[in-house]
Amino acid sequence: HAQANTFRIGLILPMTGQQASTGRQIEAAARLYMAQNGDTVAGRKIELIVKDDTATPDVTKRLAQELIVNDKVNVIAGFGVTPAALAAAPLATQSKTPQVVMAAATSSITEASPYIVRTSFTLPQVAVVMGDWAPKNGVKSVVTLVSDYGPGNDAEKYFTERFQLNGGKVIEKLRVPLRNPDFAPFLQKVRDDKPDALFVFVPSGAGAAVMKQFLERGMSKAGIRLIATGDVTDDDQLNDMGDGALGLVTSHHYSAAHPSAANKKFVEAFQKANKGMRPNFMAVGGYDGMRVIYEALKQTKGQGGGDALLAAMKGQVFESPRGEVLIDAQTRDIVQDVYLRKVERKDGQLYNVEFDVLKAVKDPGKAK
Ligand code: DHB
Repeated sequence: HAQANTFRIGLILPMTGQQASTGRQIEAAARLYMAQNGDTVAGRKIELIVKDDTATPDVTKRLAQELIVNDKVNVIAGFGVTPAALAAAPLATQSKTPQVVMAAATSSITEASPYIVRTSFTLPQVAVVMGDWAPKNGVKSVVTLVSDYGPGNDAEKYFTERFQLNGGKVIEKLRVPLRNPDFAPFLQKVRDDKPDALFVFVPSGAGAAVMKQFLERGMSKAGIRLIATGDVTDDDQLNDMGDGALGLVTSHHYSAAHPSAANKKFVEAFQKANKGMRPNFMAVGGYDGMRVIYEALKQTKGQGGGDALLAAMKGQVFESPRGEVLIDAQTRDIVQDVYLRKVERKDGQLYNVEFDVLKAVKDPGKAK
């Protein structure tokens, strides 16, 4: 009967609180994917169950438990922040339920359960690209400023290691609390340190506050450049950052301005379905996560057991709105192109315009 035939995806996201833009973007992308590809796959009706974990790991854990035990979901997905992804991992392992991480980006997450597959990115993957670019482009000394948790620590470690390998000097490493950060005292320290550049990682949704304070405190006038991972120039916020953001160079895996036919189609459809909201890198992680789930269900001919689904997720190669991607069968992590981008005004709007690319970058966190 219809109930038993339903294939359920439990989508756990921060729909409220500091990380709410991540939830909003990923839910919209997942619904777009379903609208474009139908809600029946290999004879199974697809049901998406969205739950708000407010990015609080205890809540994530409870919701994952309820979804697996009560709702009998076939897959859990989403996970806006690293602590949430890690909180659900043991439940994925115990119940043999595939866990598709669409957002969280600390390298070690995929090692927390053999049932995890990631469609977002890793901080080491994008930070090393900036560590190569900066010293070749006039940045000889830096101070780093990162949110003090998994992805920030990864960004700091992999950026500074690569930067130093290229002869750069790291003057100081600063870490700000994840919750309600006050950047002012840290930026004062940076002014005193007088580096060529400040390297920043903050999670999606926090970039605008950093930009604002960086400009207000006259850092550019003091001759200090800003460099960052693309989390700071998040497409969800970039257009409201103002001309102060012009020229800012970041490294990341997705820009809404990525010049491919597939991306143009994606951005247009996403904006049409969401009152003009521009998709960011979180949306792409969610869209591609749904693709990985749909394709796995097709390959297993609708059977949908955890181990079979997982096997069918490994090794998928496809064209994402970001470019060609691969789900590495060994690591279950995503291999993708990483771009250098510069904030420019295009058709009256601010965009991250790609000007260079490193092809098929694996997570450097797994290479050891
Ligand atoms: C994570 C969250 C983000 O919003 C982001 O941009 C990168 C990483 C995380 O918690 O893993």
